[in-house]
This record gives sequence, C-alpha cells and structure tokens, in this order.
Amino acid sequence: MSGRSARGAGRARPSAGSGADAAAGYPGGMPEPRTFRDEPVSFVRRSGRMSEAQERAFAELAPHYLLDVPRDVAWTSVHPEARLDPAAEYGREAPLIVEVGSGQGHAIVAAASSRPAEDFLAVEVFRAGLARTMLDADRAGARNLRLVEANAPEVLSSYLPEAAASEVWIFFPDPWHKKRHTKRRLVRPGFGATAGAAIRDGGLLRLATDWEDYALQMREVLDGAPEFERAFEGEWAERFDGRVMTAFERKGLAKGRDIRDLTYRRVPRA
Ligand SMILES: C[S@@+](CC[C@H](N)C(=O)[O-])C[C@H]1O[C@@H](n2cnc3c(N)ncnc32)[C@H](O)[C@@H]1O
Repeated sequence: MSGRSARGAGRARPSAGSGADAAAGYPGGMPEPRTFRDEPVSFVRRSGRMSEAQERAFAELAPHYLLDVPRDVAWTSVHPEARLDPAAEYGREAPLIVEVGSGQGHAIVAAASSRPAEDFLAVEVFRAGLARTMLDADRAGARNLRLVEANAPEVLSSYLPEAAASEVWIFFPDPWHKKRHTKRRLVRPGFGATAGAAIRDGGLLRLATDWEDYALQMREVLDGAPEFERAFEGEWAERFDGRVMTAFERKGLAKGRDIRDLTYRRVPRA
C-alpha cells in the first residue's frame, strides 16, 4: 500500500476513543484515538469549524499537498502496511526533512521555499493548521512539500521507510505540563526507537521547547537512547538557525521562558 490510494479505506475497528470521543468534524466520522500501542496519544482533537477559505484549501490544494494515507483504527491512524515511496511522491531522490507537529506550517513552509534542493514532509493532526500550511505553501510556490494528517509516531515508525529521513524536526511540542499529563508527551521513553527508525545513519533529530521540564525530559530520553548521540557541546544546542520564529516561540519568550534547543545524531545501524 502506498501514498495516494484508499483514503480512509483502512479497517474501521472500534477504538478506545469511540463513543463520546467520536470525531464530529473528522471526515468519514471515524473516531479519534486516545491511545497508540496502549499508550496515550500526544494530542487532543481541537474543536472548531474550518473557515470557508480553509475548506477551499482542502478541496483545491489537498490533491497536490496532502498525502492520501490508508487508515487503520481511527482518522489520524496509519494502516500498519502503508508505506510512503518518497521518490515516487516527490518525483526525485532528495534529502527528506520531516517536521512533526508543524502547527500552522510557518517553519516548514519557510524552509521548503528557501531550500528547493530538499524535500519536506509536515506531520500534523490539526486540520485548520494543515489548511493554513497548504495555502501558504501554494502562495510561496513550494512544490517540494507534502503534508500528512496523522499521528506522528505512526508516521515515523511505519509509514516512512526505514532511514528515509535526513532530519526530523520537533519544535515546541505540546508540553503537557501537569504532572498527571506528562505521560502524553511525544518525547517520552521509547521515542528514540520511534524517531531512530525514520532517520538515516548520521541524520539529525532537532528539537526546541520553551518548557524547561520538558527540555530536561527530552535530553534524558535521548541521552539514554542507543539510536542517538549528542550533536552539541555543553548543556544545550545552539539555536537552530533554520528555524523561523513561530507564535509558540514568541509566546514563550514573552512569558520570560528560556528557549532550549537540542540536536541529536542518528548513530550508524549495526
Ligand atoms: C504547540 S504546537 C507547535 C506547532 C509548531 N511546531 C510551532 O512551533 O508553531 C504542537 C503541535 O503538534 C501537534 N501534534 C501533537 N501531537 C501530535 C501527533 N502525535 N502527531 C501529529 N501532530 C501532533 C499539535 O496538533 C500541535 O499543532
């Protein structure tokens, strides 16, 4: 199974997120998951209708930008046998940079339009953000960008072929700052194997957050992951100059928080 077929054709099995959690607003009425492999997912479905412009973006721009992913149990799931074929999808062989949780798409649209020799993939579950990303990408003429509306760990661990990405970016992931919610964080024990599957030997995992406790957790998780080694000296990495300022970074700064970057290198596979 590959990219542009059978949208929503995955088996609709009941999931932990069915019933009251069922996704009004998600195409096909498929439920949203609360768990992935028995662990909580790192997002909650944001409510709110899309504007007319956003609906139009989906109708007009999705055929070019949005990957048509075979689903499994829920709308943001990825069928375990589905695989992206990057060379076929982008029409060439080029380094692939993946941004997880791309939000409104500011960082990835800026990167894609200024780095035409590389290909970019935005992974996001927030539909209005995906619509905004497509509108901005279209305006910027970025043809080397694709979007996938799916749960990022499933994209990293199975939808992308092993070692397909030269870099994975995770900027300002949801901090889940309440003690009882930290288990929902995207970067938690085990995430090294998830990201490490997608990144080629020597490739980079770049992270940034304004939440100190999460920065410490990211560093602890990735320092302990056999798939990665530090690609920075000292306590934290330098600010990644390929990262444009987004509203989340600006908000963190306005609240007086320090922004912490981390960069890890994928160690060669045995
Ligand atoms: C705090 S926002 C930051 C957005 C963007 N990186 C920025 O700096 O502006 C985090 C984003 O990650 C997305 N997200 C969280 N968990 C996700 C997951 N498991 N798969 C895909 N996207 C996810 C959320 O929908 C949200 O848009």
